[in-house]
This record gives sequence, C-alpha cells and structure tokens, in this order.
Amino acid sequence: MRIEPASFVRGTFTLPGDKSISHRAALIGAMATGKTRVRNFSSAADCASTLACLRGLGVAIRLEGDELVIEGGLASWRAPEVVLDAGNSGSTIRMLAGALAGRRFTTTLTGDASLQRRPLERVAAPLRAMGASVETTHGCAPITITGGSLRGFAHDLPVASAQVKTAVLLAGLQAEGRTTVREPMPSRDHTERMLAAFGVTVERDGLSASVTGGTPLRGTTVRVPGDASSAAFLVVAALVRPDSEVRLEGVLLSPTRTAFIEVLQQMGGRVETELHETDPEPVGSIVASSSALRGVRVDPALVPSLIDEVPALAVAGAFASGELEITGASELRLKESDRIAALASGLQALGVPVRELPDGLVVTGGAPLRGASVDSHDDHRIAMALATAALGASGPTEIARGECVSVSFPEFYELIARATGRA
Ligand code: S3P
Repeated sequence: MRIEPASFVRGTFTLPGDKSISHRAALIGAMATGKTRVRNFSSAADCASTLACLRGLGVAIRLEGDELVIEGGLASWRAPEVVLDAGNSGSTIRMLAGALAGRRFTTTLTGDASLQRRPLERVAAPLRAMGASVETTHGCAPITITGGSLRGFAHDLPVASAQVKTAVLLAGLQAEGRTTVREPMPSRDHTERMLAAFGVTVERDGLSASVTGGTPLRGTTVRVPGDASSAAFLVVAALVRPDSEVRLEGVLLSPTRTAFIEVLQQMGGRVETELHETDPEPVGSIVASSSALRGVRVDPALVPSLIDEVPALAVAGAFASGELEITGASELRLKESDRIAALASGLQALGVPVRELPDGLVVTGGAPLRGASVDSHDDHRIAMALATAALGASGPTEIARGECVSVSFPEFYELIARATGRA
C-alpha cells in the first residue's frame, strides 16, 4: 500500500459498526433463544470469522437488507464437522471458547499464524476449573474444548482482559450457581451491558462482575455504534495535519474505550465529544481539529481502556513536542503482532526516535518524518498507524502487507483518500 503525504484531513464520517460489540452481538445472539437482529454489524474480517464459526456450529445467520438476523438458541448448537477457523481474531477464539465450555460436544478452534502464537491458557485455565475439558497446543491454538457440567466459579484475572472476562461469564451462564470474575483494572464492559439487553442481569461491584447460571437469554435487536478504535486513527490524522477537522458521528463513546481521547486532550489536542445516547452504550460524535501537541506520560491505570489505541497515540507522539511515554502495556507484545516492537521499527523507519521499553515505549516527537518502506507485520492497527504517520511525512510511504487493515477496518484507505481530497 502506497501512502502519499496529505496537506489536510477533513470531512464528516460515520464509521462501520464497532468490532468488539459486533462480536458480542453475534455470539450472544447465537446463544439466545429466538431471533436477534443486528444493525450496523461490523464489516471487519474478524467479525466475519465469528459468524463463520457460529455457522459451523449450526447457527442460522442471514442478511436481511442491512440487518444481520440470527436464529439463536444454545440447545441447537451442534458439534462442528470441521475444525473452526477464527482467522486473526483473538476475540472470536477466546469468547467462543467460553460459550462452548457448557456444550456437551467437542470442538476444535484454530486461527491464522498470528493467532496461533497468542496465549490461550488465560482462558483455558478458568474454563477447566469450571469443569470443561480444554486442551491447548503448548498454551496456544489449536484449542479443543469438550463442554460439560459446569460449576460456578470465582475467578481473579491476573491481567485485565475483556475477552477472558467474557469467556468466563458466558460459561457462567451455563454453570450451576454463581460465577464471578474480578479484574485488576477495568476492561471494556460491552458484554455486561449487552447481556442486560438480552434479559440477563450482570451484578457489578467495583471490579467484579457476576452472573447466575441458568438465566435465559432472549433474542433482541442490537444497533452497533461506530467503531471507537477505528475512530482513533482519523482523530489523530486530523490533529497532526494542518487545516484539518474531522467529525465522526454515531461513534461508541464508552469510557472503557475512549481513554485515548483523554490522553490526546492532555497532549493539547482539540478533540471534543458530544454524547447523544447512553443506553445500552454511550454513543455520540467526536470532532477533532489541527492542534499543537506535546508529549505526556500516560497514566498506566488508563492502559486497559486505550490498549488498542496505543498505535494511534504513538503517532500523535511522533508529531508532538517532547516525549510521549507509555508504560504498563506489556499486553501489547501479545496482540496480533508484538505491537511495541512493530511500532518502534515502523516509526523509526519514518525518522521518529522511539525507545522500546519492556512494557511500553517512549516516542520523541518533533523530528521531520520522511516517507519510507515499512512493514505492517500483518497487523491491522500497525498498518493504520503507519499510514496515519505517513500522511505527515515528506515523500510517499510503502506499507508492506498493508491490506491487513481489512481485519478491523476494510474501508480505511478509501476513507483516508476521501478525507485528504483524493477521492
Ligand atoms: C477485546 C479486548 C481486548 C482488545 C481486543 C478486543 C474485546 O483484548 O485488545 O482488541 O473485544 O473484548 P484483551 O481481552 O486481551 O484485553
């Protein structure tokens, strides 16, 4: 993918449905009895992986106009005839493992080369403790789950993870008694909010969430807000280019996902949000315009709420004065790529001084960026971060394996072309 420098980034956009919420709408809709309708379902390849796995389990899913219709019910799930492929999607493999822990058949789930390197014991261990038989391959995929009679369980997550929290809660819905998950720091709460829309109350107390087994899920209609993580790249693009302003409408504004806005504001970024809805999720618009940014030290307590936005924030740091320091983010080494290493090498190639830390990075801003050949490492957010940085470089940038943006945001390059006056 070739990215030319842009003299401005402007426009009003609505974004495809949020990836995290789309996964959950499909999965919980497939578990719930009756029909679930999902509007603005994500166009991400990751969410298509969730649908393919659910279809492999016998769930009927069809498109009616622009609505996804799911004929759900856990009782109708059947042992798949083949190994299910979660593609690049950690959310699919981890959350589905939780739902399968209560099904009395055997399923093997796998994924692409990147997913096969990512840790699954964090989800396998609590599911085993609840009574499922779970085998991983040296801690990774392929993972084979034979569901059984589950016992309610209290699980302390060693690291904040919404995927693991979700897996345990979805298993807990099929367990005897009460299941509680406690997190060291708050992670995104989309599952908790969505379960309520499907008729199940999740009791929340500080950092813990509990469900009672046997509570029925009933199909409903879900409208998915625009993707907050995709928004981050456009917001940063507008902040770092002159004569720029973007307005993003109908975006998810969950505080568990928008900490990147707080950090950009601390950096001096002109970013404003307007809240239009609050239930079941906060939704509204984001307006961002050209700003003189300065580096800050990001509070590690915010990291779980901006973990997927670190690549976008690192780009903001490259155009800021001083240093942007992010720590407490060692989980980034376990994402679709080692994002700390991939960001450091990609930004360095563009002329940005970056220091890698074991659990984060320090970006020194202010150096002029020059176009270069860089590598996405087959990681969608690295490709989008480097493309965003490239808009402010002198000369064109070539991103190897840049097409991987389709994992979360297939429309990304087209939208950038429109915002920069090229389409
Ligand atoms: C996600 C949770 C986060 C995030 C991922 C999506 C989710 O991962 O990085 O992109 O939808 O629950 P962890 O659960 O590993 O923190």
